[in-house]
Amino acid sequence: MKTRILGKTGWSISEIGLGCWQLGNDFGPVEDKQAIAVLDAASEQGISFFDTADVYGAGLSEERIGRWLASSTLAPKIATKVGRDAALYPDGYTKEKIKQSLQASAKRLGVEIINLAQLHCVPREVLFAGDILAWMEDLQQEGVIEHFGASVEMLDEARFCCQSDKLVSLQMLFNIFRQDAVEEVFPLVEQQNIGVIVRLPLASGLLSGKMHHGYQFNEQDHRSYNKDGAAFHVGETFNGIPFETGVVLIDELKARLTSNHNVLDVALRWILDQPQVSTIIAGASQPSQVIRNAQASDLPVLNDELHTMLKDFYQTNVRQHIRGGI
Ligand SMILES: NC(=O)c1ccc[n+]([C@@H]2O[C@H](COP(=O)([O-])OP(=O)(O)OC[C@H]3O[C@@H](n4cnc5c(N)ncnc54)[C@H](OP(=O)(O)O)[C@@H]3O)[C@@H](O)[C@H]2O)c1
Repeated sequence: MKTRILGKTGWSISEIGLGCWQLGNDFGPVEDKQAIAVLDAASEQGISFFDTADVYGAGLSEERIGRWLASSTLAPKIATKVGRDAALYPDGYTKEKIKQSLQASAKRLGVEIINLAQLHCVPREVLFAGDILAWMEDLQQEGVIEHFGASVEMLDEARFCCQSDKLVSLQMLFNIFRQDAVEEVFPLVEQQNIGVIVRLPLASGLLSGKMHHGYQFNEQDHRSYNKDGAAFHVGETFNGIPFETGVVLIDELKARLTSNHNVLDVALRWILDQPQVSTIIAGASQPSQVIRNAQASDLPVLNDELHTMLKDFYQTNVRQHIRGGI
């Protein structure tokens, strides 16, 4: 597993990380034993960066990571998120309440101090008011968190966050079906030495290539109840693309790939080919998926011809289908 530096933290972390939303049962039920197996598989693959949030399974994802950490000799960096629990979202934000949420996360994780606390897609007006970033700086000074970053939905929010001197990372929706950040945000993060943490690298699994028309999702799975954005931002489920359209696009893309390429490898390697990316937090509900995704670190860089094809395909075929804005 190759490593990269996470912005101003100076931490060397695995370029493939682990997304732990799945461990909160938000992609359908995952038993305790399976959750621990996912975390074990990640550490065995050299994955040293896990992403979670206080709200994933109402604390279950953090608790499971905490239990796993307590029995492990390894110390991966844990990034959690704050800002979407009922005490805060959508308009109850105060510094004290954020501190309490972070302290509750630290307790569930069983850590003295949180490695990286990310603002969790807080409403635009709250972010743009600016106080919340200043509060995160204060909480860092107080020793509640080592570092802070922000997970954002929109590119203008990402650009706004780059104005903060102390912000170390931006977590963004980014994949071969959502490419605009390359030109709209990456030059700025490079200038500010901010690490990019990529979420939805597989567009909620669409880009694994395994999904087809009529594919069934568990009723507890956000890909069932949020496929059109009924519960939260539509971009977080299938990248904002209507599922049936996504399946058609994958078939079109497969037809353009040569036999020595498959969609999943191309999707992960394309992200790694962007030097501004620090890590890809690929979500996994099975240990086998973790192992498969970790292999992307060993793949060769994609050639220019393939990069050009993927850029054209995105611009011409995909971009128009993204709902919820970019
Ligand atoms: N607002 C935010 O800050 C925010 C929002 C969304 C996500 N995130 C974070 O980002 C992480 C990644 O995003 P995501 O999990 O939503 O999307 P993703 O990584 O694009 O997709 C994950 C899903 O893809 C499928 N998959 C993964 N690896 C596979 C493989 N090798 N073969 C076949 N299928 C595979 C699995 O589906 P099945 O489970 O159906 O097998 C898995 O649940 C999350 O876990 C979470 O930590 C943050």
